[in-house]
This record gives sequence, structure tokens and C-alpha cells, in this order.
Amino acid sequence: MVTQQAEPAGPAEEAPVIEAPVIEARGLTKRYRGGQLAVDGLDLTVPDGSVFGFLGPNGSGKTTTIRMLLGLVQPTSGTAGLFGRPMPQAARAMLPHVGALIEGPAQYGFLSGRDNLVRYDATDPTADPRTRSARVDAALERVGLAAASAKKAKAYSLGMKQRLGIAAALLRPRRLLVLDEPTNGLDPQGMREIRALVRELAAEGSTVFLSSHLLDEIEQVCTHAAVMAQGRLIVQGPVAELSAGTRGRLAVTTPDPADAARVLREHGVTGIEAGAGRVTGDLPAGAGEAEPVDPADLNAALVRAGVRVRAFGVERGTLEDAFVALTGEGFDVAG
Ligand SMILES: Nc1ncnc2c1ncn2[C@@H]1O[C@H](COP(=O)(O)OP(=O)(O)O)[C@@H](O)[C@H]1O
Ligand SMILES: [Mg+2]
Repeated sequence: MVTQQAEPAGPAEEAPVIEAPVIEARGLTKRYRGGQLAVDGLDLTVPDGSVFGFLGPNGSGKTTTIRMLLGLVQPTSGTAGLFGRPMPQAARAMLPHVGALIEGPAQYGFLSGRDNLVRYDATDPTADPRTRSARVDAALERVGLAAASAKKAKAYSLGMKQRLGIAAALLRPRRLLVLDEPTNGLDPQGMREIRALVRELAAEGSTVFLSSHLLDEIEQVCTHAAVMAQGRLIVQGPVAELSAGTRGRLAVTTPDPADAARVLREHGVTGIEAGAGRVTGDLPAGAGEAEPVDPADLNAALVRAGVRVRAFGVERGTLEDAFVALTGEGFDVAG
């Protein structure tokens, strides 16, 4: 967990630049002492108000990037900025606007969850001690830990520890929340709750920067995403555009899969897989200047050939399809 060693907001020239992207990196690079190139020439732009998914398999450089963005490690080269101000120079002025949970929260096991937050809040010199108790209770409530708040943190499950770390980031309203793999260690119900919380925080006006190695998590909650592989940025942009960039896959439900496969092949469909009652394939791209094939024409061709079509559709491309298309690799969820 990153401590918010907040100082009273800096001089006027250090105030956030209103029109600037919340996070901006240019050529950001980190080579660790051991020679490991963890982040390689990263250009990243996180728009104000976005829920930005920072997606990549384990070891792809997500945590290292976040540490550089927050001024916790020095880049080898390149620049990082928060709210239009350079980091780490502007850390004192900008970090009070940022709530962060990085790579598993650090907590005092011998203290209760509640006392951990009280202690954490007390490290923030701008936090009014008279309202501390109310702030802590509200944060515990938000992450669903109110009932377990008197338990010692060492008795918490991994998921509860993760929530406690998120609660610490939520003690004050923040313009930016940086959550590094916030659903690590959570069960599906816990993951749903975090997703709902992220949506709520975004609706209240915070920009949320969320790293994950889980594709569907990013697709479900994020407006924008950047995909990392081996320290390099593969692609970034609005999630809808990223997945739309991949051609969807044709799927036909039919009791005549062999005939359907033959007809589709004759009409230029490639990558055909015919199974029991179902045929899938890649739509032919339009050759040269030609229009891409209209799926409706394929459906008509099947029907003309006497194939009994029970369902016909084009399955939308997913971020995973985009990742596989861009890297030529599967997305290794286990890392
Ligand atoms: N402190 C460190 N010293 C040396 N290498 C590191 C250090 N931290 C991370 N690495 C390496 O840098 C690469 C990126 O790691 P990391 O940023 O933690 O990726 P992610 O968060 O995507 O899993 C990995 O190969 C990792 O082993
Ligand atoms: Mg990490």
C-alpha cells in the first residue's frame, strides 16, 4: 500500500493542470539492476474520467509501471506525469489526489481492520482527526468489511486483506484511484463486488486505473484499456474499439454440419471447425477494394444448398481475440 504522505497542496504553479490527461507516460522505461528490462518505451495516455484497464499477463511490467507513475521507483529513461505535472518531482503536490493499492496491501496483522485504517488515516496530515472515525467507518462499509472490522487483520482472508487495502485508498475522495490487481485472491462474488465498487467510484467522478491479468474483468468494467506483453505496450484505446478491431467469428447451429462446412468453404470462409450440430469459421475479408462478405449472403447460400440452419450469427470479437491477433500468442492467464 502506498502511503499518502499528503502535504497541504503545493504552490499554485503545482496545481493539477485541468485539461491534461490524468496519467501520461512517454518512452517510459525501467531496467532493473539485474538487467531485467521490465518496461520498454511505454507511451500511455489515461483520459480524465475513464475506467482504464491496464491488462497484461503476470510479469508484463504492470506493477513496475504503476510504481514509476507514482514516483516510487525512478525510471531508467522516459517521463511520467500525473495531472499534467512531472513525476516524481510533483509527487508531494499530486499524490494527495491519488488513492492507491499496489501489489498486495501491507498491514499490521496484530491490529484490527478498523485500527489499521485509523492508523493509516493518521499518517495523512491533512486528515482532520475529529472526523477520522466517521471516515474509517464509511470506508469499511464501502468494501463490505464493517462486520469484520474488529477482527485482527492477520485473521483476514486474502480477499479481506485486499478489501482493507482498497478501503485505505478510499478514506478520502480522490481524483485518481490506482488499483493494482484489486481482485487478486477474491472469489467470484468478491470480484463482482469490486467491479460494482469501481463503477460507483467512476460514477462519482474519480478516474480509475486498474491493472489486471484477467481479460474479462477489464472488458466488464473498463471504458479504456492498454494491453502489455513483456514490458511493451501492444495496444491502447477505448475498449469498444479494441475489440471491434478483431473480426468476429461466424457460428452456425445446424443438424447438417458437414454440408454447412462445405458450403461455407465454397464461399471463402476459412478456419472452419465443424462439430456436433455446430460449425464456426472466420468471415472472409473483402479482397482488395471488394466489400467484405455480408453474413446474410452466407446464410442465404446455406439455405439454398438445403442446409437446415437453426441459428446463424457472428460472435463479437473479444479483447482476447485482439490480444491473440496482435501478439500471435495465447493470453496466459496463469502467468
Ligand atoms: N525489484 C525488481 N528487481 C528485478 N526485477 C524485477 C523487480 N520487480 C519486477 N521485476 C521483473 O520485472 C518484470 C515485470 O514485473 P512486474 O512489473 O511485477 O510485472 P506485473 O506486475 O505485470 O506482473 C518481471 O520480469 C519481474 O520479474
Ligand atoms: Mg504486478
